[in-house]
Amino acid sequence: MQIARTIEALRQAVAAWRREGRRIALVPTMGNLHAGHLRLVEAGRGRADVVIVSIFVNPLQFDRPDDLKAYPRTLEEDRRQLEALGVDLLFVPAEDEVYPLGGGGTRVEVPELSEILEGRSRPGHFSGVATVVSKLFNLAQPDVAVFGEKDFQQLLVIRRLAADLNVPVEILGVPTVRESDGLAMSSRNGYLSAEERQRAPALYRALKQLADALERGERDYGHLEREAVESLMEAGFRPDYVSVRRVDDLAAPTLGDQRLVVLAAAWLGRARLIDNLLCER
Ligand code: PAJ
Repeated sequence: MQIARTIEALRQAVAAWRREGRRIALVPTMGNLHAGHLRLVEAGRGRADVVIVSIFVNPLQFDRPDDLKAYPRTLEEDRRQLEALGVDLLFVPAEDEVYPLGGGGTRVEVPELSEILEGRSRPGHFSGVATVVSKLFNLAQPDVAVFGEKDFQQLLVIRRLAADLNVPVEILGVPTVRESDGLAMSSRNGYLSAEERQRAPALYRALKQLADALERGERDYGHLEREAVESLMEAGFRPDYVSVRRVDDLAAPTLGDQRLVVLAAAWLGRARLIDNLLCER
């Protein structure tokens, strides 16, 4: 596995692969890799000749300085896992490599989609994500880029920016990888105490119960959302939102909409957990 720490080194590898007509997959991450990230790498490998993984803890997308500072950095272990999976190139740029003129410059904004749900709780977050992902698309020129459904709103923001900016990339979404008790894998699960970890699957269970009710044909979205919020509070969470939305644009669903997604964010101790479930009616 090649390791590129500079844009120059990444561009050289990409140029050589493109000359050879190889299909390139890109898997952007912030590191501290778990089985969810590794599933994206496997999906990328299935769709391309070479796989590039990036690890960059992007300061632009953190709305709280303490969250950025505490974010787990485990590069050596990450490198080992990616090497074992046969990744071709690991891109680990320093901050001033990605933002040579500082973080105050050109931004990519995806309006509306970025302002609801996660965007409302974390102002500026999706603009930070959209900006860094646009940079990565320019640098790695991937044919396919792989993202998790775990961050469902992020996936839609990225699909929209790629379409709006005519980026010649296929965006591949991969279903959420979960622990055996249903908890969605996340780097932030490491913030949970042993006792909180026991309670954490209540988030998945609340979403599952809501999705099951929708699939049975229940329509009172507001009532179902309130029930889920209550069950989360009983389990010791501080819910941020539970919301039923349309899959395609996360707009509020009308009674006729059939493809829905239930999204939630809730604090448990010092961890802010997010999860979502798709449901068809
Ligand atoms: P990060 O949180 O490291 O996640 C990297 C990718 O892994 C994202 O596409 C995310 O949706 C996916 N992922 C995380 N947990 C997953 C799980 N349990 N199952 C499936 N996929 C999962 O998301 C980011 O980094 C950043 O915002 C990034 C896109 C890299 C831009 O900085």
